[in-house]
Amino acid sequence: MDYLNKRCVRDMDVKGKAVFLRCDFNVPLDREGNITDTRRIDESLKTIKYLIDNDCKIVLCSHLGRPKEGYTGKLSMMPVAKYLTEILGREVKLTKDIGGEDTKRIVSELKKGEVCLLENVRFADGEKTNDPELAKRLASLADIYVNDAFGACHRAHASTCGIADYLPSCYGFLIEKEISNMCRILKNPKRPFVSILGGAKISDKIGVVNSLLDKVDVLIIGGGMSYTFANALGYSVGTSICESDKLDLAKDMMAKAKEKGVKFLLPLDIRVAKEYDPDSENKIVDFDKIPEGWMGLDIGPKTEKAFSEAIKDAGTVVWNGPMGVSEWDNFASGTLAVAKAIASSGAISIIGGGDSAAAVYKLGYADKMTHISTGGGASLRLLEGKPLPALEALENN
Ligand code: 3PG
Repeated sequence: MDYLNKRCVRDMDVKGKAVFLRCDFNVPLDREGNITDTRRIDESLKTIKYLIDNDCKIVLCSHLGRPKEGYTGKLSMMPVAKYLTEILGREVKLTKDIGGEDTKRIVSELKKGEVCLLENVRFADGEKTNDPELAKRLASLADIYVNDAFGACHRAHASTCGIADYLPSCYGFLIEKEISNMCRILKNPKRPFVSILGGAKISDKIGVVNSLLDKVDVLIIGGGMSYTFANALGYSVGTSICESDKLDLAKDMMAKAKEKGVKFLLPLDIRVAKEYDPDSENKIVDFDKIPEGWMGLDIGPKTEKAFSEAIKDAGTVVWNGPMGVSEWDNFASGTLAVAKAIASSGAISIIGGGDSAAAVYKLGYADKMTHISTGGGASLRLLEGKPLPALEALENN
C-alpha cells in the first residue's frame, strides 16, 4: 500500500486559514495524570509549528484512551493542553465540548498563529461510528483538514475519516515520515530481510505473519505467541499463554515458511516463572520442556544469542512486539537483547510502536534505528499491506 500519491500539507495553500489538525496524542499517563512519554506529541510539533508559521488558526483534535461512554475525567485532554502550552510557549486552550458552543466560541476568538485543543474526541457520540453529523460539525470549525494521527489511521472514525468528506484534506509531516520510511523500505528491502515478531497473541498478527512470509528471508517468533507454536509442535507449554484454537493456523504458518524457503526461528530456551508476577521465582528451561505449573515470560540466553546471530547479518529488520513481559525487569532481557542486536547490526530497521519502541528508547538506541513508528496497530496494518481507512479518505495530490 503506497500513500505517497496523497497530498501533503506542504502542497496546500494554508496561509492564514483555519486548520483542523487531527493528531494522535494518545499518550500514557500515570495515576496522577502526568504524561509519562511525550514522544507522540513531540513528533507532531513539526506540523503544528509549520501551521503557526503560516499564520493559521489551529484546531487540534485527538483521542486519549478508550472512554466507555461520554466524559471521563481521567481521560481529559487537560494534561496534553498543559504540555502543549509549555512546549509551544503559547496558551493552548482546551474546549469543554467537542464542536459545541464552547468550541465555537474558542475557535471564533482564535487569532492568526493561535492554537486550541478539543476535549477528547472519543467523548463525543458518533466519533467511533463515523457519524456524518459529527464529522460535519467538526469540519465546520475549519477551512482545511490535516491528518497527522498516524497511530489512528487504521480507525475509520468521524475525526479521522468522515471529516475528509467535508473539507479539502491532506496529511501532515509525521504521517509523511511514517509512510515514506515504511513504504520505501518495504517496497525494496535490502536482503537478507529479517522480521522479528513478538507480543501475546498469534491472532493479532495472523495477517502480518502471512504477509511477511511472502517477503522475508528469516522470520523470528518470540514472546507470548511463540507458545502457541510450541504447542502446535507437540511441546508442553505449562501455564504459558497459548491459543489452543489457533494450533492449525500455527502449523499452516510453519508449513508456508518451509514451502517459501523462509528460515523460521522459534526460541531455544525460555525463562519460566511460577506466577504471573514481576518478582515470581523463575528459571531457564528448554523451549520444548516447559514444566507443568510454570509459564514462559521471556526468552532465555541461548535464544538471545541465536536471534542476535540471525539479526547480525540482516540487510533490513522489521521488529514488532516484545520477547517477554518487558515492562518487568526480571523478564525484559530478551527484548533488550533484540533491541541491542538490531542497533549494532547496521541494518535498515523499522521498529513498530509500543513495547519494542520503548525498549529501544530505554537503551538509548533510538538514533541507531532507521525508523521508529508512532503507531502500533496502524504500522502492523501497513506491514500487512492492508488499507488504512484514514489515509484512503484523503485527497490525492
Ligand atoms: C494507538 O495507541 O495505537 C492509537 O492511538 C490507536 O488507539 P486505539 O487502539 O484505542 O484506537
